[in-house]
Amino acid sequence: SMTIAVFASGSGSNFQAIVDAVANGELDAKIGLLVCDKPEAYVVERAEKAGVPVFSFNPKAYNGKADFEQAILNELKSRNVELIALAGYMRLIGEVLLQAYPRRIINIHPSLLPAFPGLDAIGQAFDAGVKLTGVTIHYVDEGMDTGPIIDQEAVRIHPSDTRESVQKKVQAIEHTRYPATLQQLSAKGVEIL
Ligand code: GAR
Repeated sequence: SMTIAVFASGSGSNFQAIVDAVANGELDAKIGLLVCDKPEAYVVERAEKAGVPVFSFNPKAYNGKADFEQAILNELKSRNVELIALAGYMRLIGEVLLQAYPRRIINIHPSLLPAFPGLDAIGQAFDAGVKLTGVTIHYVDEGMDTGPIIDQEAVRIHPSDTRESVQKKVQAIEHTRYPATLQQLSAKGVEIL
């Protein structure tokens, strides 16, 4: 089975969903590493509790992105990581990791891309008044939430919805869809496009 690294910056509910899917047999993979650019983020506690090794780092302690990505890469290599799953990692991936993991880095984003890339996609959709938003899982390239789309699922926004209720629906979909996509990739030896 495939060894996956999850990259996250925040609360890590998607990280938890992936860990849980491995534990209950829905995802045949090993979570070999959590990479976190915010050492105080809650996701670090989740990883420690789950027994997943953590590489957390402060980007300011390095001389730029190439420098900290090389440090990440050393960790990924030493743990034989084959696929990287970004799960709320709020930072663009640079050349070092893109070249080391071509078509082996995926991301989940809380909108129907290419609509509403970047920060606070749910707030952006809510403010735009769209009646349909959703979740996108895609391969990562050098852009912000660009790259070939692997899967999408829609969420309807009703007049009675609030930002919070939309976020709840979007996250519930993320938590089932991301492990399922990882399982598909794992089963097909990563390449499904
Ligand atoms: C998720 O909703 C994910 O789609 C989003 O951050 C959230 C992280 O939540 N990612 C992006 O916006 C990427 N541009 P989590 O830490 O609870 O998994």
